[in-house]
Amino acid sequence: MNKIKNNTIETRDRIIVALDYSNMEDAKKMINNLGENASVYKVGLELFLNSEGKMVDYLVEQKKKVFLDLKFHDIPNTAAMASIFASKEKCFMFNVHASGGKKMMQTVAEKVKEINKEVLIIAVTVLTSLSEEEVKETFNSNFTLTELAENWAKLTKEAGLDGIVSSPWEAKSIKEICGKDFKTICPGVRPEWSVANDQKRIMTPKKAILNGCDYLVIGRPITGHAEPKVAFNLILEEIEEALLELN
Ligand code: C5P
Repeated sequence: MNKIKNNTIETRDRIIVALDYSNMEDAKKMINNLGENASVYKVGLELFLNSEGKMVDYLVEQKKKVFLDLKFHDIPNTAAMASIFASKEKCFMFNVHASGGKKMMQTVAEKVKEINKEVLIIAVTVLTSLSEEEVKETFNSNFTLTELAENWAKLTKEAGLDGIVSSPWEAKSIKEICGKDFKTICPGVRPEWSVANDQKRIMTPKKAILNGCDYLVIGRPITGHAEPKVAFNLILEEIEEALLELN
């Protein structure tokens, strides 16, 4: 049985360090600085394109797990082909846009599971950069942001994907709707000792875990810290405290 999908997540794997760098050299410095401590890294479009995909190879060579954050959104066959590529790259996790539709997500899930049953396939629901007004304008609908996100989470689950990216504030209701094994991947996490930066609806790591987040996507509180390793370990301690409370 797959350990991750069976909900036994290695505690340090719960911190996904966001490599928001434009070049591989800076990213490598951070990976080396964090050393054994960090086990999972997020590579987004900027770094993936800038490194011509080599960032993923480097992380795999270093025995790190990769969350490939490229947010596929296309017709089912094209999205599935890109997803197969992501899975072959030995990614631990990758994502698609739920707004690509249930059929697209189903095709992605079916094709990927044929070649890799371990990889976690995650959907992005409503981009957090969108305001309530923009959502109304874009989708010409009177649904609230939360209603839309919850509906897409339901479709994601029905399509056979493993989880969604959500705000820590929504993690609890997502679990109630989609079940406890449905994974919640949550950015917008800030320890009390760090600054919010441009994140608006933040939550501390401890509260986030208590609120049902499985994985925390954290960038600047670690990568912008004078001592990234110290920051990482403080966050890990908070997560451990929360897990103890949950058990
Ligand atoms: O530095 P910080 O902790 O804010 O980084 C959070 C990471 O999560 C960034 O890579 C950001 O792009 C990503 N993210 C986010 N909000 C979302 C989706 C992704 O902050 N809704």
